[in-house]
Amino acid sequence: MTVHDEPPPRIVAPSAPVLHGLLAEYDDAATLLAAARRVREAGLERWDTFTPFPVHGIDQAMGIRSTVLPWLVFAAGVTGCLVGLLLQYWTNAVDYAWIVSGKPFWSLPANVPIAFALAVLSSALTAFFGMLVLNNLPHPWHPIDLEKRFARSTIDRFFLLIEAADPRFDSVQTRAILDETGPVLVDVVHEDTASPFRTPRAVIHGLVVLLVAALVPFGLLAQARATKSRTPPIHLVRDMDAQPTVKAQQAFPRFADGRGARPAVGGTVAREDQLDEHLTRGTIRGAASRVFPPTVAADRANMGAGRRAFDTYCVPCHGYVGNGDGMVAQRAEALAQGIWVPPTNLNQDHLRRQPVGQLFLSVSDGIRTMPAYGPLVPIEDRWRIIMYVRALQRRSSATIADVPAAERKALE
Ligand code: HEC
Repeated sequence: MTVHDEPPPRIVAPSAPVLHGLLAEYDDAATLLAAARRVREAGLERWDTFTPFPVHGIDQAMGIRSTVLPWLVFAAGVTGCLVGLLLQYWTNAVDYAWIVSGKPFWSLPANVPIAFALAVLSSALTAFFGMLVLNNLPHPWHPIDLEKRFARSTIDRFFLLIEAADPRFDSVQTRAILDETGPVLVDVVHEDTASPFRTPRAVIHGLVVLLVAALVPFGLLAQARATKSRTPPIHLVRDMDAQPTVKAQQAFPRFADGRGARPAVGGTVAREDQLDEHLTRGTIRGAASRVFPPTVAADRANMGAGRRAFDTYCVPCHGYVGNGDGMVAQRAEALAQGIWVPPTNLNQDHLRRQPVGQLFLSVSDGIRTMPAYGPLVPIEDRWRIIMYVRALQRRSSATIADVPAAERKALE
């Protein structure tokens, strides 16, 4: 026998058909319901009904109980929810703990969307695949497919099939039961021995070709990752990686002299070259200034604006009088998460003595763990804030002697 020899086709003698079951046909749903009740009372178990549309009450008539599927779906949902919570707990509170505005590392409300999504995802997948598995699907063929009459189960007829595999099946008695239920017809269904037993070669070959073709993209990916190439990679989402700008020191043939970097236009000065060092950096010839820039006068309007800006930008951390007890600080302290650096008390002697230029720089660029407020607060407002900080510092060390004589009376 060579490899190419086909095994002999399965031949079953036509004289010995194998019984699959009995198929009863009814012409209305009420008769089918009564028949289903009758068959159930007879204690038969391996049987089913087929109807062109959903028939109310057929489940009860057949004694179909609810399956284990709802419990599987419930378990999958709970598991998905727990996995979502655990994932976020691990990533946010254990593996990469990061303080965001003094919020707790792990907070249930923030975790709801992902936990919910995973719960829905896993229960939906379980419902779908569980339904297929519990129903033994997909099941592409069935002996009653060969019954010509059975096609009407999708149009206007109702069928009831009792399998010969039922332990209580008895070809005479069972048939008698069916005959009592008022069917249009009761037919014998044989096992399908005529259809080819094997999957056609063409289908198998097609599947192999598809499988191999499906591997090709992965092969190309693996090859691309392992080799070097002079051609630039395919860049689907370009974002701002490729811009038609001329980089520093690059040639640019569009200009007559071929240089990308252009000299300043004659008679102009670059903006940075004329910046006011005192105003923008708080320094005078490199040293922190001890006086406010002349454009920011020490008057009531500037002091009021400074207070408003301080109350907006600084109070959450440093507190209303600058003692370092703002709400964010209190909250972070209460959570006691260990790595919180408390905001500095601004009324300390070393900060009282610090030049205003240095305070201005700390606020503009940020200092150690404190973020920069330069990008957020306009430059004059930053100076007004420092003016108000100075007022707070003055206030924290004030005595009754500082109150003007006229107003001292009212206090006493
Ligand atoms: C998000 C909280 C937070 C805000 C808002 C905040 N700070 Fe701070 N600030 C801090 C922390 C924390 C420190 C201490 C930093 C360190 O020691 O690492 C600090 C330190 C300081 C210092 C001390 C600098 C030094 O030399 O030690 C000054 C001055 C200061 N802040 C001023 C301000 C002003 C003015 C504002 C408003 C524009 C402000 N801060 C807003 C958290 C904050």
